[in-house]
Amino acid sequence: MGPGVLDKALCGLIQRKDPNLITGFEGAEDAGIYKLTDNLAIVQTLDFFTPIVDDPYIFGQIAVVNALSDVYAMGGKPLVAMNIVAFPIKKLDVSVLREMLEGGLNKMDEAEVTLVGGHSVEDPELKYGISVTGIIHPDKVITNAGAKVGDKVILTKLIGTGIINTALKPELVTPEIIDKVTESMIALNRKASEIMQEIGISACTDVTGFGLLGHACEMIVEDEKVGMVIYPDKVPLFPETENLAKMGIVPAGAYRNKMFRAGFIEKRIEISDWMMDILFDPQTSGGLLICVSPEKVDKMLRKMKESGIKNAIVIGEIVQEPRGKIILQ
Ligand code: CO
Ligand code: CO
Repeated sequence: MGPGVLDKALCGLIQRKDPNLITGFEGAEDAGIYKLTDNLAIVQTLDFFTPIVDDPYIFGQIAVVNALSDVYAMGGKPLVAMNIVAFPIKKLDVSVLREMLEGGLNKMDEAEVTLVGGHSVEDPELKYGISVTGIIHPDKVITNAGAKVGDKVILTKLIGTGIINTALKPELVTPEIIDKVTESMIALNRKASEIMQEIGISACTDVTGFGLLGHACEMIVEDEKVGMVIYPDKVPLFPETENLAKMGIVPAGAYRNKMFRAGFIEKRIEISDWMMDILFDPQTSGGLLICVSPEKVDKMLRKMKESGIKNAIVIGEIVQEPRGKIILQ
């Protein structure tokens, strides 16, 4: 679905007030957080989607890594998960389902997350994902708001998964590039999350369906206290992303994302349409977007490189004015 469809549908409906709710569906946070005691809260999220790759095992891995990402973005520790499956039992062999679930379990194992149940329905179209429950200290919640003037903006994974996955069918990309994108989509954001918790940061979100600029917007438009400068030249891309975008091979979601947030973008340099498509390309299992003080940024990047997060890089900074805007320069 397009940006914010569920939020829009819920808007104005009466929701019960609960003093223990730390983050709910308002505020576009990555996960819901609910306080149980003064030093314990639960983090909850779910995600599921249709296959974006042919291999069921890899699709299972991607679906789980993608869903866990929202817990990591908030600084939580995922503990348990439940499978959500829609399966066309008349069209596909049950071995496909088994392989997909095995891929999912493989990543839950790596993340030290325990599968506690699930639900499946028959459906003409295969869909898979998980719901996740994790824990967090109520005072240590990392939200997507809170960026401070002077903060550097770090991105931890390359951009372009939507564009490259769109090109997969016409066979416009080499197996090497597909491997590179797959490797990125099945990489947990766990280590990056642990490093940002250890060092201390201002704000974080993960880059997924709304694209880099869509998620960047969520970090600044809510309370309009600051603006965010992004340097398009610095945004790290998968190989061939540029060429594919120039050829117009861009998923429809990128255009929807662009339309939804166009009013919040201020261009101070000449930027081609295809570059804008890349900046709004919906990502699957993308990296973390982190705002960190300038004093801590070098240490953070060093720790990330040491932990194998080799693509982490500064792509922008937080400024006083214009508030509530993304400035491309
Ligand atoms: Co998210
Ligand atoms: Co999500």
